[in-house]
Amino acid sequence: MAELLNIELDGRPVVSDTISEPEIPVVRGQKVYIETYGCQMNVSDTELMMGILKRAGYQSSSRPEDADVVLLNTCAIREHAEERVVGRLNQLSYLKVKKPHLVMGVSGCMAKHLADEFMHRVPSVDLVLGPDSYRRLPDLIAEASREPALDVRLDRDEDYLGLDPLRKNGTHAWITIMRGCDKFCTFCIVPYVRGRERSVSAPEIVRQAEVAASEGFQEVTLLGQTVNSYRHGDCDFADLLQMVAGVDGIRRIRFTSPHPSDFTDKLIDTMAGEEKICRFVHLPVQSGSDSVLGAMKRNYTVSEYLNLVDRLRSTMQGLCLSTDVIAGFSGETEADFEATLDLMRQVRYDSAFMFKYSPREGTVAHREIADTVSEVEKGRRLEAVIALQNQISEEINRTYVGKKLDILVQGDAKKGKGLAVGKSDGFKTVVFPRSGIKDNTFVQVEIQKTTLKTLTGHPVLSQVASC
Ligand code: SAH
Ligand code: SF4
Ligand code: F3S
Repeated sequence: MAELLNIELDGRPVVSDTISEPEIPVVRGQKVYIETYGCQMNVSDTELMMGILKRAGYQSSSRPEDADVVLLNTCAIREHAEERVVGRLNQLSYLKVKKPHLVMGVSGCMAKHLADEFMHRVPSVDLVLGPDSYRRLPDLIAEASREPALDVRLDRDEDYLGLDPLRKNGTHAWITIMRGCDKFCTFCIVPYVRGRERSVSAPEIVRQAEVAASEGFQEVTLLGQTVNSYRHGDCDFADLLQMVAGVDGIRRIRFTSPHPSDFTDKLIDTMAGEEKICRFVHLPVQSGSDSVLGAMKRNYTVSEYLNLVDRLRSTMQGLCLSTDVIAGFSGETEADFEATLDLMRQVRYDSAFMFKYSPREGTVAHREIADTVSEVEKGRRLEAVIALQNQISEEINRTYVGKKLDILVQGDAKKGKGLAVGKSDGFKTVVFPRSGIKDNTFVQVEIQKTTLKTLTGHPVLSQVASC
């Protein structure tokens, strides 16, 4: 899941990079370790926090054992994500015995949701801060070293203007272009833990893209919970894409997650007309049944969604699509569930994130819709959607054999000595012999073999491709 654009819901930690000399030393030599859970918004927020801490004089640590400040940047999207973080905090508690001055903190979406619980039930926690409090992080750490500190206020004006993130070395840069969400889908906790939707100004986003380009990043991903509802003054998401495409050095632009109801014709035309915008769209559908979509308050019907898919595909040749599906939402009947399978067969997504419905306290669905589907049945439905999607992904990937794809090289492949891995424009993971090819360069690869998740091939060395 770590490789996927939108959601890293499994909560695999992303460990921050080493920091060089601080610019504005306030705290000298103190080390901070951050573990990141959840979606790319949180990955981006970790980079923001590391940037703020670097300017305050902190250095980063790749091991919690060496740190003076340990932060877990958390996700609240489903229940098991929470259990995991509480378990991890308890596991890390021994560090406080060895190092009593250590500050242990919880940030992110779960911090907002479970602030009191952390403060009272996990004694090792002395700092809890929500997604709109990161500007105050150095002050809050100082406060927490004296007495427990808590700041989970949501601030509808906070857009972290002018604060540059400290990015991990890599090949693509995340840029958060909007924060919060106003959609209030009935199953979802995000609007409650991240607050109201607000967009960052376009010149600030362009400035951030220029900074990323100057740091050597050739690919940027614009982030927001409903990224295509972006609006700042007269500038909408399509206008913003055009502006970012104008930044020298940026050769690929991705974005996630767009909401189907905010996809305008202007946006589709802008995407089609701009080569730098990748031919990949993550388009969460959630369900293939109109009555479930209505109960979820998704603001589109199945036929409107399918119509959108048609418009996207007919405008952009070779477009790759992924989605999110929830199995076993409250009230979902067998017929509703079959309708989801039908929709998946009809659309044939390249990949999908598939979840069992997890009721979240505070949401409308939790309050007002009876959770009618048993855990066992949710599990059965989830397995069925996964099996179907796996079959479709494998079939689609097989059609790539013999094709040549332009790949941005990301690093060494996890498996196989001497192999490198990168992404295609359509977000396929492609593995190939390194053959001296450097990271963060583009290479054309001819595909020879495919599996469910990976395409394998050989670089076409005579023609190093442009984007
Ligand atoms: N803003 C994005 C989704 C962000 S949350 C959008 O609207 O598409 C990422 C995904 O988590 C959702 O698309 C949904 O599939 C899943 N999800 C959210 N709440 C959930 C819940 N209570 N139970 C199960 N899955 C959930
Ligand atoms: Fe959650 Fe819906 Fe907002 Fe996505 S659009 S973050 S699913 S409320
Ligand atoms: Fe993302 Fe999880 Fe928060 S999915 S927005 S980190 S609740």
